[in-house]
Amino acid sequence: MAGRAQRAEGPSSGPPDRKGSSLLPLALAARVCYHHSLRKTKDRPLLRRLIDLWLARNAQPSAAALEAVAHLKPMTVITGGSRGIGFALARRFAKAGNDVALIARHADALEAAAAAVARERHVKALAIAMDVTDADAPQRIDAHLAANGFYPETLVNCAGVGLSGPFVEHTEEAISYLLEVNSVALTRLTRHFLPGLLARGKGGIINVASLGGLVPGPNQAAYYASKAYVVSLTRAIATENAGRGVRLMALAPGPVNTGFHRAMGAELSFYRQLMLALSAEQTARAAYRGYVLGCHLLVPGVTGKLLQIALWIIPHALLLPIIGWLLRRREERPWSDTLDKEA
Ligand SMILES: NC(=O)c1ccc[n+]([C@@H]2O[C@H](COP(=O)([O-])OP(=O)(O)OC[C@H]3O[C@@H](n4cnc5c(N)ncnc54)[C@H](OP(=O)(O)O)[C@@H]3O)[C@@H](O)[C@H]2O)c1
Repeated sequence: MAGRAQRAEGPSSGPPDRKGSSLLPLALAARVCYHHSLRKTKDRPLLRRLIDLWLARNAQPSAAALEAVAHLKPMTVITGGSRGIGFALARRFAKAGNDVALIARHADALEAAAAAVARERHVKALAIAMDVTDADAPQRIDAHLAANGFYPETLVNCAGVGLSGPFVEHTEEAISYLLEVNSVALTRLTRHFLPGLLARGKGGIINVASLGGLVPGPNQAAYYASKAYVVSLTRAIATENAGRGVRLMALAPGPVNTGFHRAMGAELSFYRQLMLALSAEQTARAAYRGYVLGCHLLVPGVTGKLLQIALWIIPHALLLPIIGWLLRRREERPWSDTLDKEA
């Protein structure tokens, strides 16, 4: 009788019996899960859903396009994903539960990067070794994804190369290759994937430009010009397709601590010594947030945003000599202009 009364009052009152004490951790776990799910299903997704609704206010998804991928899973495709900003973006997208496909030329580093992302976040991570300038790159990406049961939902065009030093000192081949990687391949991939995204009325593209895309860059002239093209193209097509459910964002970071500067022989330039640089992870975090919010242009970090304002208000006649001084190459050319092409 006493035992029945105890059970009726519940495990929290009276002396705990063995059954009651074994239920306690379960009750605690249920409570934690409940609060976690409240946060997940009510707060974040609600805000995300509202943003998605706004971004898709004029979307008209095609039933045929949705049907065509019904048996496939969505994937985030990241060019330049083997290191630096691209790798950090891969980790950030994977953290949000996205399966990822990483693309770069050097297969060993690429496979190690994909394995690291898969291990860390328990997502599927494909490694697709290729040069984005290959004419059939878009079709090969399609084939690779389909063969593994995926379709592209997000494209991040992050592969990029730089050239530092006076424009006249660069070979025509080096300049052409830079434009091929930074502008032409990015355009080809954007043009290839955008129709599918629009037809499905969701997904998006991040084109990695640079703060340097907002101003001419003496001593990195071709690089800055290639990034200006990326900013211009991306903002224009983002405006053309506003409200159709597809996010289109140009990411324009200031200096980021990666091997990019050393690879183009600019590690000793004054901008590397004098300007604050973000980490690749900080850049990826800000980029992901901006992408979810539906930004068309994102400059990560407070310093980056202050520099963006400075670029708007300081007259070019004053600004460009300063930028030229900051970008001046101060080391002997340790790496050949054609290094990237030969790699
Ligand atoms: N670091 C900065 O301060 C900074 C600032 C603003 C913007 N950005 C831009 O951010 C992007 C990434 O820069 P990062 O600093 O992360 O550079 P990074 O560390 O040198 O990484 C570049 C990535 O692109 C890949 N890649 C280069 N050429 C390729 C090609 N032809 N085909 C396929 N993959 C290629 C590289 O792998 P493989 O060599 O194996 O191909 C690597 O994964 C670039 O577009 C850059 O312009 C960088």
